[in-house]
Amino acid sequence: MTFVVTDNCIRCKFTDCVEVCPVDCFREGPNFMVIDPDECIDCALCEPECPANAIHSEDDLTEQQKPFLALNAELSKKWPVLTTNKGGLPDAEQWKGVPDKLQYLDRGE
Ligand code: SF4
Ligand code: F3S
Repeated sequence: MTFVVTDNCIRCKFTDCVEVCPVDCFREGPNFMVIDPDECIDCALCEPECPANAIHSEDDLTEQQKPFLALNAELSKKWPVLTTNKGGLPDAEQWKGVPDKLQYLDRGE
């Protein structure tokens, strides 16, 4: 079991989530954050911290969110650990709640 960062994080990346994780499993990309499923201990502390409501248990993912389970697993092996809150992206508030943001994902490649 793991928690998963979904669509709502893209282009917002508020980073409030990273400071509460007791096992440092958040990994940072250019405009998205992911959780390493091999590190997550399923504590649920991060879920209420996200202002964009982007974090969910894998058991609670909608059909639209399910691809993010594999995406978190894949990108968490490529991106570096982040443990300090650095604030959201400059236009995070404008992108908060905008649907279908997967098309804007920057994999940093
Ligand atoms: Fe970290 Fe707990 Fe969130 Fe998993 S559920 S990412 S262990 S804070
Ligand atoms: Fe993303 Fe929410 Fe964390 S927007 S960076 S999952 S606080």
